Amino acid sequence: GQGGLEEKDFCLKDLVEKTVLTFDLRAKAKGLRLNVIYSADLPVEIRADQRKLTEILHNLMDNALKFTEEGEVKVRLAKLSDSRIRLQVKDTGIGVSEKEVWRLFDKFYRAGGASSRKYKGTGLGLTLVKELARLMAGEIEVKSRLAEGSTFSFTFPYKPVGQRTVPRKDRAELEPKVTQRSAKDINILIAEDDDSCYYVMARFLRDYTTSRAVNGKDVLEKTKNKSYDLVLMDIQMPELDGLEATREI
Ligand SMILES: Nc1ncnc2c1ncn2[C@@H]1O[C@H](COP(=O)(O)OP(=O)(O)OP(=O)(O)O)[C@@H](O)[C@H]1O
Ligand SMILES: [Mg+2]
Repeated sequence: GQGGLEEKDFCLKDLVEKTVLTFDLRAKAKGLRLNVIYSADLPVEIRADQRKLTEILHNLMDNALKFTEEGEVKVRLAKLSDSRIRLQVKDTGIGVSEKEVWRLFDKFYRAGGASSRKYKGTGLGLTLVKELARLMAGEIEVKSRLAEGSTFSFTFPYKPVGQRTVPRKDRAELEPKVTQRSAKDINILIAEDDDSCYYVMARFLRDYTTSRAVNGKDVLEKTKNKSYDLVLMDIQMPELDGLEATREI
């Protein structure tokens, strides 16, 4: 559930890189750069609510990628004090006007009037972010300019664990490993029983490393043995269909 706080020790950098990595393909598909920047004194390990933090970052990244057509999405992490960290997600996207910006966290609110129809969504992501921020005793704020971009900043309390800080090589303005991964490093599992459909898809995805599963059972076996960046699931397949297999994964 989403209830109270679930604090535990975890590696902040891992959390950020794993979450950002899940957006790598989408960024590539839109031609957007993804960047992660750490302040030099950022602690490696902290105690905080890992799950809520992941969910917040995920929602902010999802928006940043959705509402940006050109440029980059930058994730910045900075230690503000021995008890507070700031997480920023900055984009060069469509932005929001001054008139609307204060309503973004409202339930179902979607800015941009007619243009918002171009972008899919229900208008609940930021409402969830705000609620999670509150549960973490953090603060979320946004600065945005129409047609220039938006910056969402989430400041949250943490407890330090150990003394380690982010190693020098990983610091400021360094490209994260994510953007250095080549398409061939991305593993896609195509679940498709029909040969010709499969060949069309595999050809379409030839820049990536693809493998095939011929039914839901096969998917379960393959995903058990190997981790894939993406599974493209056909719904109608023999043995175990795509919906069932997805539920199992
Ligand atoms: N990075 C951003 N750039 C421009 N506009 C944004 C950005 N993030 C949010 N918005 C605006 O705020 C609105 C609310 O965001 P929210 O995440 O709550 O909803 P959504 O993304 O439209 O739908 P959902 O998150 O439920 O899929 C968006 O519809 C959009 O108008
Ligand atoms: Mg959203």
